[in-house]
Amino acid sequence: MATDNSSPRFARLHGRFERRAIRFTLAILGVISVGGIVEIAPLFAIEGTVEKVAGMRPYTPLELVGRGIYIREGCYVCHSQQIRPFRDEVERYGPYSLAAESMYDHPFQWGSKRTGPDLARIGNKYSDDWHVRHLIDPRDVVAASIMPSYAFLASAPLPVEQVDRLMRAHGRVGVPYTEEQVANARADLLAQADPEADSSGLMERYPKAQARNFDGQPRLTEMDALVAYLQMLGTLAEFDWRRPSPEMLR
Ligand code: HEC
Repeated sequence: MATDNSSPRFARLHGRFERRAIRFTLAILGVISVGGIVEIAPLFAIEGTVEKVAGMRPYTPLELVGRGIYIREGCYVCHSQQIRPFRDEVERYGPYSLAAESMYDHPFQWGSKRTGPDLARIGNKYSDDWHVRHLIDPRDVVAASIMPSYAFLASAPLPVEQVDRLMRAHGRVGVPYTEEQVANARADLLAQADPEADSSGLMERYPKAQARNFDGQPRLTEMDALVAYLQMLGTLAEFDWRRPSPEMLR
């Protein structure tokens, strides 16, 4: 029995479109670009798409260099930095990650592979000494750990000459470092790792920065930078993360 699809009227319509290859191609392109614009247009207003969160600021020079070491050593291969909005994750790690918490991360460190725990809120969970011992020999503090040793970081001198250029590079991709922050890059880096130094300028430029001798030895090493970075993770956004709100646990 003839259906509607095989009716002569439908066949004529079909023929009108499909036999004119160029016009048909243009029509397809037109339809696809409407779909494309609908997807892309909201991203032009990305500034308004990412919710602002109190307390977020760009990394200090020392944290930024530490983050570079984290990436160089492939820590992200085993560790994610994204707490998902599920009850088990929130109870274990703290409130789920907000988009704004990685707004200054280029590239972001979310990840989906967890050989080790998520590190998005590792900051201030352990002492500096714990981190140094753990990075030198994970088995020293967690008997069954399979994490590799990074003992060499404690004797690797920290290169500081390029830090202003590193900040400029991050500026290029959208991190709002000011001229003042770039001009003081090296001084701020040294001040953050030296308990004797005057860190008032650093604190003004980077609220909530933690300044001290992170690796506990006199020399400035890659360990200082990495521990400074770890101790800051998840501590900037302002909410009481030790007590997840009921709606976060729903
Ligand atoms: C081969 C996988 C692997 C790599 C690479 C790795 N880790 Fe780990 N990490 C683990 C495992 C497994 C644990 C859990 C056992 C432990 O605490 O040692 C862990 C635990 C940790 C913890 C403690 C987390 C907590 O909440 O108790 C920190 C901090 C950490 N790693 C930092 C790092 C850093 C920094 C690097 C890179 C320099 C790194 N890890 C590289 C596997 C890895």
